Amino acid sequence: MRIRKAVFPVAGLGTRFLPATKASAKEMLPIVDKPLIQYAVQEAISAGAQELIFITGRSKNSIMDHFDKAYELEAELEARNKTKMLETVRDIVPPGVTCIFIRQAEALGLGHAVSCAWPAVGDEDFYVILADDLIDGRLQPALAQMHRVYQQYGTSVLATQRVPKNDVGSYGIVETQPVGPGLSEIRRIVEKPKPEEAPSNLAVVGRYILTPRIFKLIERTPRGAGGEIQLTDAISAMLNEQTVLAYEFEGTRYDCGSKLGYLRANVEFGLKHPELADDFRSYLEGLTAGWNAETPKAAKG
Ligand code: UTP
Repeated sequence: MRIRKAVFPVAGLGTRFLPATKASAKEMLPIVDKPLIQYAVQEAISAGAQELIFITGRSKNSIMDHFDKAYELEAELEARNKTKMLETVRDIVPPGVTCIFIRQAEALGLGHAVSCAWPAVGDEDFYVILADDLIDGRLQPALAQMHRVYQQYGTSVLATQRVPKNDVGSYGIVETQPVGPGLSEIRRIVEKPKPEEAPSNLAVVGRYILTPRIFKLIERTPRGAGGEIQLTDAISAMLNEQTVLAYEFEGTRYDCGSKLGYLRANVEFGLKHPELADDFRSYLEGLTAGWNAETPKAAKG
């Protein structure tokens, strides 16, 4: 049992990153030297995906160009003997992996974006990856961890994480029945609940394994929170028909849809970057030493 197709909804407006996202996609923002979408694609490929389906909107040409062959750039790097850079550019999409681009004409919500992939996904189980949730899996990429669960249970699996009670209003929150360590069956799912109404603090984050039944259910889903067609609402309908599992992945998630999460990711990935780590660490140490020296004694107290 393998999953071959991965859907990347990249048609959101990215309003929290304006003006950076006025003419370019949020998913093209780099973490150190690689755009968010490339981390997501690599994670999907490491979990077996061979067909990458991008749901794009306005100003998303940069994503198409990024995964396209860049003949002139390659010729130039070759002429200058820049072999390592040439490899970096050529390896963006490995052989045997294909990219499909589908336009979401209007940003009607994540559920609607996923439904745009129906013609390309057909009747197969598939991945959905939100590239602005960057996950550094501890032992294995998060999607590969989820794929292990899928191979055992053959059903939909959602990536989940415990969040502070005050943050539940930013997520789909689930009520669950334990199945095993880090794994539970979802009984109920609510989009962006108030803290006092949330069934738990277990939040769904940007990785999903879904059965194709979801497409029919999205079709029947009316506009929900924020006037958008919510994936959460279609998943809620799915709970009446199929088992949906919540999996607490091992690793660290960076919410790169928020400025603070994005900066955290850049700092932490910078500290692990093979070419930069040492110099960047010294720079940060110097910076914090400066802060400490400058902080008045009373404030330190
Ligand atoms: P977000 O809720 O982060 O929205 O979407 P956004 O528009 O990207 O960003 P902000 O909140 O305005 O800053 C979650 C994911 O769903 C995709 C986004 O691209 C992002 O990956 N999405 C959302 C779509 O593809 N289409 C939509 O209509 C809405």
